[in-house]
Amino acid sequence: MSSKKNPADLRSARWFAPDDLRAFGHRSRAMQMGYAPEEWKGRPVIAILNTWSDAQPCHMHFKSRVDDVKRGILMAGGFPMELPALSLSESFLKPTTMLYRNMLAMDAEELLRGHPVDGVVLMGGCDKTTPGLLLGATSMGLPTIYLPAGPMLRGNWKGKTLGSGSDAWKYWDERRAGKISDKDWVDVEAGIARSYGTCMTMGTASTMTAIAESIGMTLPGASSIPAADAGHIRMASECGRRIVEMVWEDLTPEKIQTRKAFENAITVAMAMGCSTNAIIHLIAQARRAGQDIVLDDFEKASRKVPVIANVRPSGDKYLMEDFFYAGGLPGLMSRIREHLHLDVMTVTGQTLGDNIARAEVYNDDVIRTVMDPIYREGALAVLKGNLAPDGCVIKPSACEPRFLKHTGPALVFDDYPSMKKAIDDPNLDVTADHVLILRNAGPQGGPGMPEWGMLPIPTKLVKQGVRDMVRLSDARMSGTSYGACILHVSPESYVGGPLALVRTGDKITLDVNARTINLDVPEAELAKRRAEWKAPEPRYERGYGWMFTRHIKQANEGCDFDFLETGFGAPVSEPSI
Ligand code: FES
Ligand code: MG
Repeated sequence: MSSKKNPADLRSARWFAPDDLRAFGHRSRAMQMGYAPEEWKGRPVIAILNTWSDAQPCHMHFKSRVDDVKRGILMAGGFPMELPALSLSESFLKPTTMLYRNMLAMDAEELLRGHPVDGVVLMGGCDKTTPGLLLGATSMGLPTIYLPAGPMLRGNWKGKTLGSGSDAWKYWDERRAGKISDKDWVDVEAGIARSYGTCMTMGTASTMTAIAESIGMTLPGASSIPAADAGHIRMASECGRRIVEMVWEDLTPEKIQTRKAFENAITVAMAMGCSTNAIIHLIAQARRAGQDIVLDDFEKASRKVPVIANVRPSGDKYLMEDFFYAGGLPGLMSRIREHLHLDVMTVTGQTLGDNIARAEVYNDDVIRTVMDPIYREGALAVLKGNLAPDGCVIKPSACEPRFLKHTGPALVFDDYPSMKKAIDDPNLDVTADHVLILRNAGPQGGPGMPEWGMLPIPTKLVKQGVRDMVRLSDARMSGTSYGACILHVSPESYVGGPLALVRTGDKITLDVNARTINLDVPEAELAKRRAEWKAPEPRYERGYGWMFTRHIKQANEGCDFDFLETGFGAPVSEPSI
């Protein structure tokens, strides 16, 4: 790509170049920080949105990794400006990071709008940080490159490999069944997360960073590099070098985030055996980019593209570190080349086809061929029916096959605390055929749609050896979770969706092959229940939550705030200086 921009046309020049009192202030304050005019004059100012924090174990390395980004920016003749952004720690932030994804999106957009910057490196990785940062940067529209935190190393306990999330659930069930001692339990705690970096199963973090890469917003291969690999440091400085060129080339997200790019992301997500959360975030991001992606686009791709990444929880043994050694995302994309639009632009200034031209797979068991997949149809299925008129989602690749067609009586819980209490009751009236239901756990009801969707199997049944059951909710689940969990039921029960009308004992029928989910209750009875239904009390009387509940959209629409969507009102203009 040829350079298009002149130094005088840089956005930052509006702050620094004029001979007026405002610009005098900006220049003198840059000098106050010890920078001589030669260091910024005529150079692209590059924002680095860093989501490091002391409450963010997945991004611990960002504290020093940002220096590698800065090194790259300086080498390429840019001027770095690190701007800390909201960190959204999946581990510590309550009630759920999803409540704050849009807050990070606003943070990112307004940080960029308000500061004298020409381009941005986004540093994220832990679950919602990826969509949060990308939503904001997409709305702002400056040249953007995404720097994924990278997965942590494999977990280890007594020589056994441990996977983030998945093994926590698995061994917790073992512990509840009385099979793990206190001492061993502490050793599991110490061994399951033993380096910085994001969860190393195919959870939401690995899914979303791979999606960022497949849309074209990261350097090729960037999302698969383990956080602790020296290659990650080199990738960071390359992000710095490349973003400076992108500013001169005026390579904005708009030129990358086309409809075809999002279709590629959906295809890749399916081949990866992606987290169910991907659906919500991708819909939101596509809408910000002005592309109309809907649940049916996932459904179509899911019928076409098999799961070929043999990474847990869809796969049975491997983790992201193995995936990297096997060729990483470029390797995977090379295997599904014929399903991808290869002519789309990426942050490299080259097409996706160019980027993966020489990609290879080094281990056919970790990254399978399409002829030998780990699951023949895609990772996700979208179900509809009288229980979920606007859709719900299941991950068939991660549940016991016998539940793909199932009828069972409902056991309904109205909130999380009562479910949690009941689940340990030895006298709970429940069988392995029951459909466990949790409601009031959606975008408004949760609030923030917490990852409660993998309801625990009742302890009574765990002791009998039951490890999977059909579970149904308007919540999400962690990408590292597994089981016959039907999620994101839309519209949610809190706003009066049909889920609100279910009663314990009602029969529910699920048929994944037919893509249906139905409540076997006559319409007349449902109408009666609907008339009796009372809207719950509002969750918030003030603050961010108050704003959230007024503006959050439903899961099938991506859970963006209505006023942040691209079509809402005229575009925001540049700030006066
Ligand atoms: Fe940060 Fe899983 S907790 S990626
Ligand atoms: Mg997660």
